[in-house]
Amino acid sequence: DNNRFQAIISHCKEYGFIFPSSEIYDGLAAVYDYGQWGSELKKNIKDYWWKSMIQMYENIVGIDAAIFMHPTTWKASGHVDNFSDPMIDNKDSQKRYRVDHLIEARIDELEKAGQQDQADLLQQQMDQLLANSDFDGLKTLIENNKIVCAISGTANWTDVRQFNLMFSTEYGAISDGSEENKIYLRPETAQGIFVNFLNVQKTGRMKIPFGIAQIGKAFRNEIVARQFIFRMREFEQMEMQFFIRPGSQKEWYEYWKEERMKWHLSLGIPADQYRFHDHVKLAHYADAACDIEFNFPIGFKEVEGIHSRTDFDLRNHQEYSRKKMQYFDADIDPETGKAYGNYIPYVIETSIGVDRTVMMVLSQAYEEQDLSTEERQDSRVVLKLPAKLAPIKLAVLPLVKKDGLPDIARELMNGCKGSFRCFYEEKDTIGKRYRRMDAIGTPFCVTIDHQTKEDGTVTIRHRDTMQQERVHMNEVKAMVLGAIG
Ligand code: GAP
Repeated sequence: DNNRFQAIISHCKEYGFIFPSSEIYDGLAAVYDYGQWGSELKKNIKDYWWKSMIQMYENIVGIDAAIFMHPTTWKASGHVDNFSDPMIDNKDSQKRYRVDHLIEARIDELEKAGQQDQADLLQQQMDQLLANSDFDGLKTLIENNKIVCAISGTANWTDVRQFNLMFSTEYGAISDGSEENKIYLRPETAQGIFVNFLNVQKTGRMKIPFGIAQIGKAFRNEIVARQFIFRMREFEQMEMQFFIRPGSQKEWYEYWKEERMKWHLSLGIPADQYRFHDHVKLAHYADAACDIEFNFPIGFKEVEGIHSRTDFDLRNHQEYSRKKMQYFDADIDPETGKAYGNYIPYVIETSIGVDRTVMMVLSQAYEEQDLSTEERQDSRVVLKLPAKLAPIKLAVLPLVKKDGLPDIARELMNGCKGSFRCFYEEKDTIGKRYRRMDAIGTPFCVTIDHQTKEDGTVTIRHRDTMQQERVHMNEVKAMVLGAIG
């Protein structure tokens, strides 16, 4: 599966999906740029999420908060004190590792070797030690499990210590290095929603239960940053905070687990490619949490988190800002017969990484096919992306560059390009052009040939089956719209 993973990474680069950032300077670790087709795919994923989470729910609205936030935000949210990972340094290689990543690498190794029981045991032990912040225990676990073999071959470790993952920078004209001028790049988009809770609730006249959602960049100084766009230092999140009555968090937590899984399945990905993983070690803000894990070529890994955050964030912002973060609930509590009254809402959060979703749909879509017949060898790489996510929906291909065929193709192109992303190409044989479109996941190719001049019909080719049918030019647009709808 590592071969498959490497093949996908090469494919992403070769076909303009994802490039290492600043590649001419040999790249910047764990930072990536999206190319011409990757950016379209990413945008389509964000649009689909926005539509599913905001347009389709009448009680969820979207915002777009700034990346820079008042420094006190991160004290209140607990990130200054708690957003850190236990790290360990290898004294010989002078390399620093996140303890959980180090142990996870060993778990992967055991799983690959078919030693599932040992892998599960190690996972349990790690979860327990992390939950108790038992650093000595973690060090012993690393030493006892030959984790050294997986990474560096030696066993000379420092003690386990905590490192904060937030990036900071200087704010304003004077960069004097003082604490007051220090500002953080947000490590999660969620806080932009919490600090705007009252603004949105009041101006939007929102009634509990309601949600606020946003899509935006987040930054973390990940220590072990590897595995392509799975773990980046600059990445994007799609988050939604759902504000609820205290005491109703269990129901809403279950509700959002189910809703979010439905969303994943709506991408056409089979259910057996997903699993839930309940957290034993809870983040500093949560009273229950789980991940939706996808079966990546590197194994089952987190793509989305669903967290029951209690009133942790709003309560702390109230304390630090001295602004009341309360909601007045006029509904009648059947138990007391009185209005629920004032309270700080509880929150269920759904948080999914855009880049991990890109990696998920690419991993699911990527297929190498052997198309050889007795006469000749042939193969193709096809991205079986859901039509609604494909970078290009329709390729318009005149069979030859003459006889007026390009003019007809242009006419079709002009009729469609206002409605969805089209691509016009007249170079190379039709077979080669089809292959290039397969490789970037274009669901439909239309070929204009001499018969088109006679009766207005074209050949439309379906990416996955490679089957072709003859339809009238005027039907093409509706066909594509139907498929991407
Ligand atoms: N507001 C809650 C929160 O940020 P998280 O589990 O730390 O929770 C949520 O992050 C999601 O963000 C993850 O499920 C993952 O998809 C994505 N994510 C987190 N760190 C990432 C990184 N370094 N690179 C890429 N995606 C990341």
